[in-house]
Parts: sequence; C-alpha cells; structure tokens
Amino acid sequence: MNIGFFDSGVGGATILKKALKEINGDFFYLADNKNAPYGVKEKNKVKEYSFKAVETLLKRNCKIIVIACNTATSVAIKEIRQKYNNIIFIGTEPAVKLAKKSFNGKRILVTATTITINGEKLLNLVDQLSIKEYVDMLALDKLVEYAENGNVDKETINRYLYSKLKDYDLSKYSHIVLGCTHFPLFKDNFNTIMPSTIKLLDSSEGVVRNLKKQLESFNYNTNEYDPKINLLLSKKEINFINNFKNIIENKNVNVEVI
Ligand code: DGL
Repeated sequence: MNIGFFDSGVGGATILKKALKEINGDFFYLADNKNAPYGVKEKNKVKEYSFKAVETLLKRNCKIIVIACNTATSVAIKEIRQKYNNIIFIGTEPAVKLAKKSFNGKRILVTATTITINGEKLLNLVDQLSIKEYVDMLALDKLVEYAENGNVDKETINRYLYSKLKDYDLSKYSHIVLGCTHFPLFKDNFNTIMPSTIKLLDSSEGVVRNLKKQLESFNYNTNEYDPKINLLLSKKEINFINNFKNIIENKNVNVEVI
C-alpha cells in the first residue's frame, strides 16, 4: 500500500515519525522545499503547489494521502477532495477540538502560519466548537524558517518565541495549540519559556489515528513493521535530507529529486 504524505518541507515529518511507529507501508513523503515556506505566500500559489504535490503522489500510486500541512489543508483540501473523489485525503488541522476537552474555562492559544490563522477553516472550526471567546491566535511564521534551516541556535529560537509570547498573560492559558506541523520541532523551546501548567497540543496523534482507521477500511494490516520510506524533494538539499532523517529517526530513506 502506497501512502502519500505532503508538506512544504520538514514539518510533516513530525507526523510521519508517529505513523512509522504504528503503520506498515510504502510511504512517499513529498517535501515541496523549493517553494517553502507556504504560510506567508499568496493563498492561490499555495493551492497551486498543493494540487501539483497531490498529482505527483497520485503518479506514485498513492491511494491515501495525508496533507501533513495545516496551511495546505486550510486553503486546498476542499477543492482537492472535489477533484479526486476516489482518493482518500487526510487533512491536518490545529488540535483545537482536543484543547476544548480539557481547557476548563481557561484560554487557548492557537499558533500557526499566517495563512492558517487568517483562513476561514480555522475560524469555522472555532465557531463550531463555540469557544471563540476563549481562543487567541498567533502567527509564528519564523519557526518554519528555523525548522527548514535546521541549524538555528536555541537562544535565537527562544528569543523569537519570547518576543511573540511576552504580551500574553500565560497564567491564564491551559493550552498552546501547535497548528503548524513544523512547530512540534520546538516543543523544548516552548517548554523553556512557558509555565509548566500549559499543555502543548499538536495534531500528529489525531492524524495518525485517522490514517489507521482509513487503512482498516481497505482491510489493510497495519501491524507488521517493515515500512519503506521514499522522500521526494522538489529541490536537492543535503541539509534537508539529514534534517528529515533525524526527525523521523530513521536513516533508511530512498531520496529522489522530482
Ligand atoms: N508545515 C506547514 C503547516 O503545517 C506549512 C509551513 C509553511 O510552509 O509555512 O502549516
């Protein structure tokens, strides 16, 4: 079973890492590193890139595709599903629903890229959950750049996070939602500067649970462990490949530049 993953860069690897622990299959991870970052670009450009990525994965015979990118999910998943209605697409959305389960009337800070924060999809989700008055939203686009670079020192990242969070009274918050798949790479940095009472939530658990459920509907056995990992890059970058392997904690990756 060929399982497609796609993100602008290394972020989706935070979801793939979890998937690899639980699912056997041939994984095709497409990183559109030539066009990363997505979150600060024009929405229509990101839509165009997303369609192109899906088409590449379809050529690799993927029957199920994880859009391991909140930004691409926000702008494109609806139209992608309409166009390819015989393929299963799993989107990634900020884990606001999960935060609602245990926020206990405190505040929830949703962090994501600019596109996701300004997108209708997130606003609708917060509206549907009826928690609008408890939610604040904050774009942290620079974290995407830091993650793609892979070599930025801890102090620079902490300083950036501190400058972004300093105006929030964090004692009032129960959760910070990591609504961009690049952000879980900085959990340690968040933990350094925020009170330990705040819980960080990312989307990987929900996405992998959903992926397993969908695979079971194909009668697919997810329990044998011998996954194959193919990394498809839109631009050759040695640094990226090493970064990716470190994140998924697996060196056995077949790399191809598309
Ligand atoms: N990892 C992506 C997300 O979840 C996109 C980051 C970017 O390219 O700006 O939104």
